[in-house]
Amino acid sequence: MSKPKLFSTHVLFEEPRRKLAEHFEVEYWTGEERPARAEVLKRVSGKDALICLLTEKIDGELLDAAGPNLRIVANVAVGFDNIDVPACTERKVAVTNTPGVLDETTADFAWTLLMAVARRLIEGDRMARSGAWTKWNLDQLCGTDVWGKTLGIIGLGRIGRAVARRAAGFRMRIIYNSTTRAAAEIEKELNAEYMSRDAVLEQSDFISLHVPLNAATRGLVGPAELAKMKRTAFLINTTRGPVVQEAALIDALERGQIAGAALDVFEREPFIPDGLRRDNVVLAPHLGSASVETRTRMALIAVENAIALFAGNRPPTILNPEALR
Ligand code: GLV
Repeated sequence: MSKPKLFSTHVLFEEPRRKLAEHFEVEYWTGEERPARAEVLKRVSGKDALICLLTEKIDGELLDAAGPNLRIVANVAVGFDNIDVPACTERKVAVTNTPGVLDETTADFAWTLLMAVARRLIEGDRMARSGAWTKWNLDQLCGTDVWGKTLGIIGLGRIGRAVARRAAGFRMRIIYNSTTRAAAEIEKELNAEYMSRDAVLEQSDFISLHVPLNAATRGLVGPAELAKMKRTAFLINTTRGPVVQEAALIDALERGQIAGAALDVFEREPFIPDGLRRDNVVLAPHLGSASVETRTRMALIAVENAIALFAGNRPPTILNPEALR
């Protein structure tokens, strides 16, 4: 019997590739750059399955280009704002993401950013590397203490909780806001105090965003929210760029309304506006889950979802079970 046809917009890693080969006739996008939209539309045509990255927009046009055979879109990311899930459901196309495997790695990275911006690591690296460091000085590149400060978490899901857990060693006060308040035992374990969003904005020294991007969270941090933050506070964003109104953030930074920001995500990636290229802003190219171990696990989950569907099983991390045929 012939194997189902799958298009993967990335070559993935060796282990997921090996697994895929056992079950599918696979076509990979092998280009170094992400494929152009037209290329994806062409290659997905007639396929039974698609494995894609967050750089691919999965909408009605793409589903039409794929045709009626397409049964699954497996996103190699936990965020799925790149996918029009209702359009998939309407066509009985299953959608899966990769929850659970990247929480700790992404939390590590939120802390990497937090520490880097607080202690001016990037400026220091630049000085050391360029030869501009001529002598030690008492007031050279003095940053801000992290230990003992107040960490504000907006969105206490899996990643937000992993970020909170790491704060214990820094003897920080942890406050949070989330659409649903965490259970008392989780609050106790994390030593996290639930507050209104405004109170979190007003009281935190570091604010780390961990809400998914959706209609309710788009533009969540805008001029009014930035105005509530302390002038000495830092904003950390490892979720999705459009959760923050970038123009408002640039304005707040220019006016010294907040102390700085550390950003892994941007409104229109990979575009980074000049207004964010400042010494008190640490910039990263969307690296939150970027460890070999975690990215491999993410690819494996996408593969396992596709295999499960064609074996007649429920894909383990399906987002729209109502689409199962
Ligand atoms: C990465 O940003 C992801 O959503 O997994």
